[in-house]
Amino acid sequence: MEYRIGLIHGDGIGPEIVDEAKKVLDAVCEKYGHKFEYTNLLLGGASIDVHGVPLTDETIEEAKKCDAVLMGSIGGDAKTSPWYKLSPDKRPEAGLLKIRKSLGLFANLRPAYLYQELKDACPLKEEIIGEGFDMLIMRELTGGLYFGERSTVEENGIKKATDTLTYSEPEIRRIAIRAFDIARKRKKKVTSVDKANVLDSSRLWRAVVEDVAKDYPDVTLEHMLVDNCAMQIVHNPCQFDVVLTENMFGDILSDEASMVAGSIGMLSSASLNETKFGLYEPSHGSAPDIAGKNIANPIATVLSAAMMLRYSLDLDKEAEAVENAVQKILKDGYRTVDIMSEGCKKVSTSEMGDLLVKALE
Ligand code: NAD
Ligand code: IPM
Ligand code: MN
Repeated sequence: MEYRIGLIHGDGIGPEIVDEAKKVLDAVCEKYGHKFEYTNLLLGGASIDVHGVPLTDETIEEAKKCDAVLMGSIGGDAKTSPWYKLSPDKRPEAGLLKIRKSLGLFANLRPAYLYQELKDACPLKEEIIGEGFDMLIMRELTGGLYFGERSTVEENGIKKATDTLTYSEPEIRRIAIRAFDIARKRKKKVTSVDKANVLDSSRLWRAVVEDVAKDYPDVTLEHMLVDNCAMQIVHNPCQFDVVLTENMFGDILSDEASMVAGSIGMLSSASLNETKFGLYEPSHGSAPDIAGKNIANPIATVLSAAMMLRYSLDLDKEAEAVENAVQKILKDGYRTVDIMSEGCKKVSTSEMGDLLVKALE
């Protein structure tokens, strides 16, 4: 089959990790007889450098013509990069938020899975991780604090900054339905995470999630306060299946969960709307501290590409083949530096990509 894939290389380590994921996708095409036609799209700092803005309307239109978009990460070092001399609405991150909102990508899936092979990279004790864990963080992605009204004013010489957190019932309902649908195909448990002991938005969140749960009697629902959840992820990650939460909490909890799974370099993500289309990106950032060194872990991006094959292109067998290739390489003891442990073989970003391609063949 023929598919049209948008590629956003992005900033920092973005181009390095996208190149490796593309190698893997090309190997998938070769093996299964598909054709991927790639369109390069600019986002973040790379777009600022060319167009002066982090995302143009033309890029959004180009992205809409694709079956799916695979992206690296965007952004730079806030202290040294000239992009951060621009007003906040012109910085790289504003482009990312705009593309999510413009394409209606409200459902962000972030699977935190501990490969048995990576037990040594997990900072938790053996007795805590046991047989390993497999949680899926479902993060609401187009509402909440990220998209509320904000302002900075000065009154009587005192500066005051405000951000607002708003959720409407339909916004909560649609992400909750997604979470329950997915939980049904997994271990049938949803942990809805909020701060309902303080926030009105969380109280509405909890009420709507409970209402949605009525249509899923086969799925167990539990509520958990976000501070407790942050603690439970390191105390007992095996208790979780689907973790449903709002935008900001999901951002923070997913970085925490990634480390428990070995490294932020392992955490893939899919951002989906109501259609088959999706934007696939690792959960981590552009890692300016290691950019250009060929040491970044490309696996989060490769696994995001696998999610793309599964969710947007319906290529389940191909997605599984990519996931198996990752597992095989880890089993064979190959590690980028972030997941390195004793007795393993240290490889670079590009060597990891080559090994994955070989494992696929
Ligand atoms: P980061 O995720 O880029 O880096 C945090 C730490 O994790 C760094 O030490 C980095 O070297 C390491 N790391 C990240 N990805 C790695 C990988 N694949 N392999 C090995 N190590 C990896 O977070 P940050 O430093 O807070 O942010 C840097 C920039 O990235 C900022 O501009 C931020 O806004 C942006 N950012 C973008 C995205 C995105 O595009 N989706 C996500 C998060 C942060
Ligand atoms: C992520 C990132 C983004 C977010 C930033 C770069 C705006 O941290 O995708 O997790 O907070 O959503
Ligand atoms: Mn984040």
